Formats: sequence, C-alpha cells, structure tokens
Amino acid sequence: DPDLIAQGEGVFRQCKSCHQVGEGAGNRTGPVLNGVVGHQAGAVEGFRYSGALEKKAEAGLVWTQEELAAFLTAPRDYLPGTKMVFRGLRDEEERAAVIAYLQSIEE
Ligand code: HEM
Repeated sequence: DPDLIAQGEGVFRQCKSCHQVGEGAGNRTGPVLNGVVGHQAGAVEGFRYSGALEKKAEAGLVWTQEELAAFLTAPRDYLPGTKMVFRGLRDEEERAAVIAYLQSIEE
C-alpha cells in the first residue's frame, strides 16, 4: 500500500537519529535496518547488540511483523535491557506504517 509506506516514511523520522536505511546505509547508534522485516534478529554485521537482544537472537527471534509491532510498542518492556532508548510507538497505525515502510526497503 503506497500510502501506508509514505506515512511510514514520515514515522521513520523518529528513528533516523539512530538508524539508517537505503543504499550506503551504515550502523550508527542503532544497526542498519535494510531488509529487517522477516529477518533474523541481532544479525547485522559489525553492530554490537545488547546482551538482551543477543540472547533473544540466539533463541531464534525473527523480526516478523508481529514481533516488530510488539517491540516497537514499548521496546524496554518487550526487551528489558535493550540498548534501544526509544519510548515506543503507542499508535497502532504508526506501527503498521513504519513496518510497511521498512518492508519496502530491500536488503
Ligand atoms: C535496534 C527499529 C528507533 C536505537 C532496533 C531493531 C529494530 C529497530 C527493528 C532491531 C534490529 C536488529 O535486530 O538487527 C527501530 C524503529 C525505530 C527505532 C522502527 C523508530 C520507530 C530508535 C532510536 C534509537 C534506536 C530513536 C536511539 C535512540 C537502537 C539500538 C538498537 C536498536 C541501540 C540495538 C538494541 C539492542 O542491542 O538491544 N531498532 N528503532 N532505535 N535500535 Fe532502534
């Protein structure tokens, strides 16, 4: 849905202080998010994750739309000990939009 993706690009402005996407994106405070939807968690090369996220990754966490929505609602409730210092997206539509936007970005 192009409208949802466009809305998600706007929501993603809140993520840009820490995350890059697209061609030439690199790790910053947070890991590159190219291709993250449907991908194994904690797998970006060269990024140093928290112990909390590493543990979830070892347990096999995959960033499905459902897991992403849960994480983005309240990162520190979903993943106590996460390094992602972000209060979360309380609005369901904003979560759906940013996930659609991320899904539109190739790995
Ligand atoms: C991790 C998305 C905002 C810093 C992640 C991951 C995702 C994500 C999907 C897991 C990546 C992976 O497993 O490779 C988002 C989205 C945001 C957002 C969609 C906006 C809605 C932020 C902000 C910051 C931040 C504002 C910095 C203040 C981090 C850090 C990690 C992370 C440090 C690693 C977490 C850890 O190792 O525990 N983010 N993020 N993120 N993000 Fe964000």
